[in-house]
Amino acid sequence: MGGFSFCWLEIKQFFVSIPVMGFFRCTILILLLVVCRSWADSKTDFFESKIRPVLATHCFECHGHKDKGGLKLDSREAILQGGDSGPAIVPGKPQNSLLMTAVQHADPDLEMPPRKKLSPEAIADLSQWIYDGAVWPEGKALGFATGEITAEQRKHWAYQPLKGNTAQTPAGENFIDAHVRGRLKEQGLQFVDLADRRTLIRRVTFNLTGLPPTPMEVEAFLKDQKMQEAILRS
Ligand code: HEC
Repeated sequence: MGGFSFCWLEIKQFFVSIPVMGFFRCTILILLLVVCRSWADSKTDFFESKIRPVLATHCFECHGHKDKGGLKLDSREAILQGGDSGPAIVPGKPQNSLLMTAVQHADPDLEMPPRKKLSPEAIADLSQWIYDGAVWPEGKALGFATGEITAEQRKHWAYQPLKGNTAQTPAGENFIDAHVRGRLKEQGLQFVDLADRRTLIRRVTFNLTGLPPTPMEVEAFLKDQKMQEAILRS
């Protein structure tokens, strides 16, 4: 084979292989993304189920909003920054982490928590957590165990005062009915008539037992005014 045809063949093969390379690159990238994502999710779960409870129960009292020894343990940044003796952990290296020395009671001058020792499982979990890079969900500080509501948490809708058409609720009408009526009106619709007694007992029984009422139950309900009122109130 001559030099040119060899070169041409090479070039042709090169061009043909570009989309394939692109496809493979893409697939590998996506695979890596998926693997990274699920790895991060499992590490966050580990933090939530094993690490957060230990910190909250055994450390937060003195390293939460207080900072005994200059150390706070309520965020990854705070732990990395550490206290009077420097960083509390070295991600990936539990054996070099002051926090591990403290919880293992390896140094009689620094035994944490003071006077009691964590369970061997909790110590192993902390070690594993540091070994895995000390994953902390979304880098957020944890406002746990203080009972305080942070300004950030206060933005949640549940803390917002009621807004809407409370002022327009006609006297004697329920606020939710008035609200629904308003929206129906916008659509040119109106409420259907109130259900009759038979329909009500049927709905209630289906709701409570998953079965229709027996004819006897229907009769009993229709005769018993008190029962009707109680059900309508509920
Ligand atoms: C009852 C209070 C208390 C509790 C609970 C507590 N600590 Fe401490 N911690 C201290 C005090 C006080 C110091 C300062 C050093 C000393 O006096 O021993 C300290 C210091 C430390 C230090 C060294 C800080 C530095 O840079 O010198 C580490 C690490 C530490 N604590 C980790 C923990 C961990 C992890 C927990 C939970 C498993 C915990 N502590 C629970 C009171 C507490």
